[in-house]
Amino acid sequence: MRTTVLIVAAGSGSRLQAGVPKAMVTLGDGHTMLEHCLDSVVAARDAGAIELNAIAVVVPGDPDHAASLEAVCHDFAARTAVTVQTVPGGAERADSVRAGLAAVRTLAGSAGSAGSAGGPFGRHALLVHDAARPFVPPAVFDAVATALESGTAAVVPAVEVVDTIKTVTGAAPEEVTGTLQRTQLRAVQTPQGFDLTSLEAAHRLAEEGAAGAAALTDDAMAMEAAGHRVGVVAGDPLGFKITTQLDLMLANALLASGSA
Ligand code: CTP
Ligand code: MG
Repeated sequence: MRTTVLIVAAGSGSRLQAGVPKAMVTLGDGHTMLEHCLDSVVAARDAGAIELNAIAVVVPGDPDHAASLEAVCHDFAARTAVTVQTVPGGAERADSVRAGLAAVRTLAGSAGSAGSAGGPFGRHALLVHDAARPFVPPAVFDAVATALESGTAAVVPAVEVVDTIKTVTGAAPEEVTGTLQRTQLRAVQTPQGFDLTSLEAAHRLAEEGAAGAAALTDDAMAMEAAGHRVGVVAGDPLGFKITTQLDLMLANALLASGSA
């Protein structure tokens, strides 16, 4: 199934506090997080996990930061002959995804035969992926793509939760209001896979909704709200998101030891 990958890289990285947007941060091997992320998509293609159509990358609105990430995309495209299009993002992650969806629609429609872009004549697979997850192995792409291939409209890779998760209320000091059954909890990663047309409709619906798109912390949430079933496949510990300096240290230790 022809697949377009949408990489969201427009976040500021406020929790990492690296002074530049997270996707621009250079890891210990001299390559940026975005380069690693792009390389992982091509590795998945080369492993036969996905039939790659093109990649859209959502970059920060700031012109200097955008130019820097556009240069990364340009070099990658020249090196791999993969079509890569960049598009400026928005304030919240969901805004960036929506900005990216417009570009994806063009990329999906312009590639392949009539009907390949989805709609009544066919389906086009979309993978929405965080630039902040640089090491996702091909097996995860494969599991997500295989689920889409079997006809599901939404699928997420997930891992088991190791901590006990409680709900709390009040300002500090907070008070526990309950404990969630850990066996029923999953930590969800990306790439998340969707039927393109269905995700476009779900995001439109979320935008019109009372809570607005800002309340969406991932894209599967939009599909859940629209009434779709969301499948779960095995994620991987290497699919972790770099959010804090501790995560960055882990990423660099993995690179230094040849484990990523
Ligand atoms: N993202 C985006 N546009 C936004 C916010 C986030 O494209 N307005 C992207 C980030 O670039 C990242 C992914 O969504 O690849 C996951 O978001 P997160 O880890 O929260 O990244 P940031 O928002 O950059 O970090 P923080 O929340 O610490 O500021
Ligand atoms: Mg964020």
